[in-house]
Amino acid sequence: MSHGQPSTSNRASAVRAGLSDPATTISFSEAQLGEVRRLQSLYPDARGALLPVLHMAQETFGYISLEAEEYVATLFDLSPAHVHEVVTFYTLYFRERPGRHVVAVCHNLSCHLAGAPGIIAHLKDKLGIDPGATTEDGRVTFLTVECLCACEAAPMAQVDDRYELNLTPEKIDRLLEGLR
Ligand code: FES
Repeated sequence: MSHGQPSTSNRASAVRAGLSDPATTISFSEAQLGEVRRLQSLYPDARGALLPVLHMAQETFGYISLEAEEYVATLFDLSPAHVHEVVTFYTLYFRERPGRHVVAVCHNLSCHLAGAPGIIAHLKDKLGIDPGATTEDGRVTFLTVECLCACEAAPMAQVDDRYELNLTPEKIDRLLEGLR
């Protein structure tokens, strides 16, 4: 019998029991662990709660580090590699600490046809960075993302937690002025 590091499933049991995970230095609070259990109970398969729990991890830890992936994996009895695949598939999970604001412009078909390339070029010019980067002062992280399901108001972007619709360069300028 191995006396090394506890298995993933043992660690998951420990976390479900409300114990801190010895393999990581980050952890949710007791209240957050209660919320994880509540979310997991909403799905026939507890893994259905993985995306909202990853959002909770991002809000709590600032971004999804490899350590955070490993920690969340223990909560779901999943391998860290599986969680890593999920995190890298979705553009709105950050693997590095993002800027104070996140401007994510949709560049999918409807937005593309409605002028997203011009909006993206305008943002590149105004911010002085390419999509995927953060301004030097840490004010804005600029992303291009796939369809955010607001095609009827294309071109659009998500700015922090709100949708900004029917974008124009002038509207972008006003939005940027409001981001401190
Ligand atoms: S294509 Fe941009 S929101 Fe759907």
